[in-house]
Amino acid sequence: MSIESEEDIIGLRRVGRLVAETIRLMIASAKPGITTKSLDKLARDYFESFGARSAPEITYKFPGATCISVNHEVAHGIPGSRVLREGDLLNVDVSLELDGYFADAGYSTCLSPASNNLVDLCRTSREILLKTIKSLRSGNKINKIGRTIETEANKHGYQVIRNLTGHGTGRSLHEEPDNIVNYRDPTDHRLLSTGMVIAVETFISTGARLAIESNDGWTLKTPDRSFVAQYEHTIIITEQEPVFLTA
Ligand code: CO
Ligand code: CO
Repeated sequence: MSIESEEDIIGLRRVGRLVAETIRLMIASAKPGITTKSLDKLARDYFESFGARSAPEITYKFPGATCISVNHEVAHGIPGSRVLREGDLLNVDVSLELDGYFADAGYSTCLSPASNNLVDLCRTSREILLKTIKSLRSGNKINKIGRTIETEANKHGYQVIRNLTGHGTGRSLHEEPDNIVNYRDPTDHRLLSTGMVIAVETFISTGARLAIESNDGWTLKTPDRSFVAQYEHTIIITEQEPVFLTA
């Protein structure tokens, strides 16, 4: 969507804050021994108490309130009986609807004690997301996002996942502009405009360039057991630094 009123900004800020608080709660509770299903329930109990609904559940009938992906899973992991363990790479992706507005964010972390490689992967992916977002201005090409993410990833010896993307959001979970890729695409001439609401997501990988679907029909994983750290924020494009809605 594109912002049309002060009311839009207020509504988006409310749902964005709730997404951020839900992620914070999940990360704080992600200790060895807890199942991903319990983590998902904590999240649901929290955001439902504010009247919010799970966006993937109401949009795609996703079997969970949040997406929880562990180790070689990249995205759309289904909460279940899996028990988190020391050293696991964990990604939580929370998208919510509140009063007709949507926001989407993701966060990765390693359960300590974790390997230095995974800690570096997470830190790098997070820094790339923040650096990329802060560089965006209305009038820039949308593909500045992919160009920056890929360049920074390669600089640190990492790859990007090419078939997972950021997207417009705000009035529904996924809307125009779609396919905001993580790589340089000279054929994409679309521009960022003031008031545009988008979710920017980094998919930084230790090897794989594509994520493949697993047998459950939802979970995307690496085909070669490499690791991916995803971070995501929903933002509003302006003439200056974008407004973070989910920080
Ligand atoms: Co997301
Ligand atoms: Co998203």
